[in-house]
Amino acid sequence: MWGTQMSVHANAKKVTTHTLQEMKRAGEKITMLTAYDYSLAKLVDRGGVDVILVGDSASNVMAGRDTTVPMSLEHMIYHAQCVERAVDRALIVVDMPFGSYQGNSAIALESAIRIMKESGGHAVKLEGGSEIVESISRILSAGIPVMGHLGLTPQSIYKFGTYTVRAKQEAEAAKLIADAKILEDAGCFAIVFEKIPADLAKQVSEAISIPTIGIGAGSDCDGQVLVLHDMLGITTDFSPRFLRRYLDLENQITGAVEQYCQDVRSGDFPNSEESY
Ligand code: KIV
Repeated sequence: MWGTQMSVHANAKKVTTHTLQEMKRAGEKITMLTAYDYSLAKLVDRGGVDVILVGDSASNVMAGRDTTVPMSLEHMIYHAQCVERAVDRALIVVDMPFGSYQGNSAIALESAIRIMKESGGHAVKLEGGSEIVESISRILSAGIPVMGHLGLTPQSIYKFGTYTVRAKQEAEAAKLIADAKILEDAGCFAIVFEKIPADLAKQVSEAISIPTIGIGAGSDCDGQVLVLHDMLGITTDFSPRFLRRYLDLENQITGAVEQYCQDVRSGDFPNSEESY
């Protein structure tokens, strides 16, 4: 039955970055899902997830774009504001969009401060390792918690050319191990590992003291994240091996819409009890 596996920290009034670090120490798995709007964020929070990621995957699932590259700071702040109004318990992490932190740590700090002040989110997430550590350190110096993101980094799609598994070759794996250490030393409170070999994710998760959250990175990360629309079966044109679908909302929603159209056209809806 769903919803029976409760962790010691499931009753935490509000999840903080410290809760996540305690969970890693206690060996309790961390749950994370994306959300981008008020109504679904409310349900996700009610379902007991520990972290809600306002992901720049909004570009794909909310806006219908092919990549996350076009997302702006304003888009991310808007989605995070909608989520923040809905959430009582989960830690809200907001993705910093492409172009808002790379290359200039002063701009990175300015962008992170805007996200925190205007959205009410609790932390930011940035993609990359050594290349962006200066930006990460500057954001952290302002007291803003930072989550890292290594492995497949979708904002760099035009550099890599594909969304296939990363760090399969020794050199790339060695860089990922070094980058994870750099992010830990810089002060990140957690790191997402996206689409990397399970053995590598296990090795790094054991070697660093901050929590690792996997998506396509095997079962030995300290937590797992999925894109909400994928796990609910709203998006069905995306079926990577790592995705488990918990609902088939595409068929349920289109079925409900078809039934509604039929009922209106036949005069069945509204009936006398549904009228004033
Ligand atoms: O934007 C997003 O949804 C993400 C997750 C895939 C981790 O970054």
